[in-house]
Amino acid sequence: MHIIITYKEGQPRKKKDFRCIFNPPGDINRPMKYTPPERIRDIKPFLVMDILERARQLEAAGRDVIHLEVGEPDFDTPGVIVRAAQQALADGHTHYTTALGIPELREAIADHYHRRYGVSIAPSRVVVTSGTSPAMLMLFAALLEAGDEVIISDPHYACYPSFILSAGGVPILAPTGAEEGFVLQADKVRERITPRTRGLLVNSPSNPTGSRLQKAEIEALTALGLPLISDEIYHGLSYGARDHTALEFSDEAFVVNGFSKYFAMTGWRLGYMIVPGRYVRTLEILQQNYFISPNPFVQLGGLAALREGIPDAEKMREIYDERRKVMIRGLKKIGLPVHREPDGAFYALADAHPFGEDSLRLAREILEATGVALAPGADFGPGGEGFLRFSYCNSAENIETALTRVGQYLSGK
Ligand SMILES: Cc1ncc(COP(=O)(O)O)c(C=O)c1O
Repeated sequence: MHIIITYKEGQPRKKKDFRCIFNPPGDINRPMKYTPPERIRDIKPFLVMDILERARQLEAAGRDVIHLEVGEPDFDTPGVIVRAAQQALADGHTHYTTALGIPELREAIADHYHRRYGVSIAPSRVVVTSGTSPAMLMLFAALLEAGDEVIISDPHYACYPSFILSAGGVPILAPTGAEEGFVLQADKVRERITPRTRGLLVNSPSNPTGSRLQKAEIEALTALGLPLISDEIYHGLSYGARDHTALEFSDEAFVVNGFSKYFAMTGWRLGYMIVPGRYVRTLEILQQNYFISPNPFVQLGGLAALREGIPDAEKMREIYDERRKVMIRGLKKIGLPVHREPDGAFYALADAHPFGEDSLRLAREILEATGVALAPGADFGPGGEGFLRFSYCNSAENIETALTRVGQYLSGK
């Protein structure tokens, strides 16, 4: 007999509170009813994955597809990092590590923040995780009671609401305008603060807009006095003035970051948080329970990235910058303007309103007609609707070909 037992939260486990869903003996293979729990019912599918899926089908059928939809480096991880991880495996680094991560990596991360931004962080405040995404899941689990609110910009990285909802929280959207370069303004945040607000999540350089917060803007957001959670995963991929960490403005900020983007290590699953010291123990307990520890050889790869991988990362950054210029020029030429030039990450969010308000439909049409895969702006919140995200994780040559195809298609619409 297969029995699932649930009980009401916070109630004593009295017999009448149990809800048993079971198959009678002899019928163990009958499908049982499944309804996702309320808490996660609002988690939406990632629309870009639908586009990617269709793009793969077209490729399998022999179509030439150019991928500008994916948010991951087209470069392989630099050799110096790969070799360090291979060596680590050969040396037997195949066991659990301490939950918070190996001390050398926590020190190297603190050192990296000191060298890049001049901030002094005790390595004991660094929590190494299996990616930035698990870091956010753990952080919101540590910060939120059910019904607590977290303010995020609109548009925003597609998965932010999901992390907040998973912890029982409520994402609150603060609009940003294309003409202002999608930069989150402090007054838009202030208007949305309520007694339930427990945090402000910012992301600079930003996915999906490629915009960056300037020093004064981060200062103004910090001055709101909310717990500030700064997703710095695209730091290093900046094509103008240097990036600023939230830790330059407040020692109380929560930083989440990872190796996926700058070091082209998406598949390795390695990230970290830097948090005020009093949160570390709770996060350690969550890590012990949820993930036990980050992977040992992956952590040693990350250590090599910080110690020896930066010249390679900088070479990739220079190539992205060249592609960025090709992309911005090309988008303008085909009537898909980007109102303020993005100078970070590897994205441009182009205004496609003249071609309709349904960005998913438009992205699908473009894919079928031209073989160019794009991310629909609707993936990134209501503020992204009517826009298309173009990623420049592809060669300049492919970007030019893709934009020519899209331009021809749109001019006939
Ligand atoms: C803004 C942002 N944060 C976090 C992530 C997830 O990063 P990771 O690979 O470290 O989980 C992404 C991935 O696209 C992202 O764009």
